[in-house]
Amino acid sequence: MSATGQTSQPFRSPIGTRDVLPPESARWDALVATFSDLVSRWGFSRLLTPVFEHLEVVHRAGESSDVVTKEVYRFADRSGRELALRPEGTAPVVRSFVEHRPPTPWKVWYFAPNFRYERPQKGRYRQHHQLGVEALGTTDPWLDVEIIAMAWDFYQAVGLGGVELRLNSLGDPEDRAAYREALLAYVAPHLGDLSEESQRRVDINPLRLFDAKAPNDREIMQGAPTLNDFLGGDARAHFDAVRSGLDQLGVPYTLDDRLVRGLDYYMRTTFEFAATSLDAAQNAVGGGGRYDGLAASMGGPDEPGIGFGIGVERLLLALGSALDARLRTDVFVIDLRRDVDPTAAPSVLTVSAELRRDGLSVEHTYDRRSVKAQWKAADRHDARFAVLFGEREVAAGTVQVKDLDSGEQAEVALQDVASLVRQAAGDDSAPPLD
Ligand code: HAM
Repeated sequence: MSATGQTSQPFRSPIGTRDVLPPESARWDALVATFSDLVSRWGFSRLLTPVFEHLEVVHRAGESSDVVTKEVYRFADRSGRELALRPEGTAPVVRSFVEHRPPTPWKVWYFAPNFRYERPQKGRYRQHHQLGVEALGTTDPWLDVEIIAMAWDFYQAVGLGGVELRLNSLGDPEDRAAYREALLAYVAPHLGDLSEESQRRVDINPLRLFDAKAPNDREIMQGAPTLNDFLGGDARAHFDAVRSGLDQLGVPYTLDDRLVRGLDYYMRTTFEFAATSLDAAQNAVGGGGRYDGLAASMGGPDEPGIGFGIGVERLLLALGSALDARLRTDVFVIDLRRDVDPTAAPSVLTVSAELRRDGLSVEHTYDRRSVKAQWKAADRHDARFAVLFGEREVAAGTVQVKDLDSGEQAEVALQDVASLVRQAAGDDSAPPLD
C-alpha cells in the first residue's frame, strides 16, 4: 500500500483461478447448452448441490487419492464445523442421494466448479469446472453403456475430432482383494526402490502404483500382474456386456488394464477420454466409472452408481476454434441513411428488435455511427450477415441481406430475413448447434 492508501499493483484473481470474459464465456454457454440438451434426451435432470460439504463427505472420494490427501481446500466455519470446498462432483451427488432417497434409477447431471490445490499449469487449475452425470440404482451394464455413449456423443456434438476412449474393469471388491495380494507379492522385492510417494501408496491402495509419475516406479510396474487376470465371473460378465453394448452403439474404445483413475471409490467399469490435441500429461478431457459401494459408505441404502465428469477448461483447450463458427452473431444491422429521424420507424432499433423476435442474434452500433464505422463493427463482430437499408429500401419496405462470407446480396422483405439466414446457416459445413 502507498501512503495514499492506493495499492501499487492492481488486484488479481487468486493463482490457479481465471475470469471467463466474453467472448470466451459464449463458448462455455455453448458447451453447457449442448450438454443439457443432450443429457436430457437420455433422461437426466439437473441437480445443484452446495459448493462446500462436510469434510467427511469429501473424504469419501478416497483416503489414498492425492485429490483428498493433498489438494482439499478445508476450513472450519465460525462454529468450528469441519468443511471443505468440493474437489469433485460425485461424492456430493451421492451425499444428496443418501439424504433425500429419491426413487431409482436416479439420473442427474451437473455443471459446477471444483477446487483442488494443485500446481497450476496449462489445463490444470485450482478451480476447474465439470459437466457431469451420475446415475444411481442399478448395476445393469446397459446403464454403463449409455453413460459412456452419452459422453462420446457429447464430444462429437461439440466437434471434438481427436478423442480416444480408454476402458477398463476394476472388478468387484473380492477380485481386488485377491489381486491386491498378488500385487503386494510382486512389489515386495522392489519396495526399497520405489519412490516415497509409491511406498506410501503400497499400504493404502497398491493399485494406485500404476498412477506413479517417477520413471523408476513406472518401470517396476511394467512387469506387474494386471487386474484383468483376477476378474471374477460376475465382474467379467458385466464387463463383456459393457463392451458388447459399446460395439452395438458403434462407440470405439481401447482396453487399458492399467487405467485405475485417481479416486478410490471405483469398481468394475472405469473409463477415460483423452484428447489427441493436448499434451499427454493433461490430455484427459473426462473420466468416470462405477462406484457401487459409495452410497452405503455414506450411511445410505446400498445402491450402485456410475457417472462421469468432463473438464470444461480442458475440453475448451482441446476444441481450439472448433466451436467458433457456431457462435457467430447472425446479423449486424446497418443504417445507410445520412440523416435518421430518431422518432420514425424503420430504424436500427426497430429492425433489430424484429429480427431478434424472429429468433436471430442481432447486433448494431450505438451513438449514430458513420456507415464506415458500422461496417467496421460488423467485421469486428465476425457477423454472418449484414442487413442494410437506406432511403430506397425504406421507401420500398425492404432490406438488403448481405452474406458476409460470400459477398452475395439479396433484397427481401424484413419478415423473410430470418428464414433466409436459417437456410444459409443450414447450408454451412459446420454442424448446427446440437
Ligand atoms: P476426475 O478424473 O478427477 O474425475 O476429473 C474429471 C475431469 O475433470 C478430468 O478428466 C479433467 O478433464 C478435469 N479436471 C480434473 N482436475 C482438473 C484440474 N485441476 N484442472 C482442470 N481440469 C481438471 C472426477 O472428478 C470424478 N468425480 C468423475 C466421475 C463422475 N466419476 C464418476 N462420476
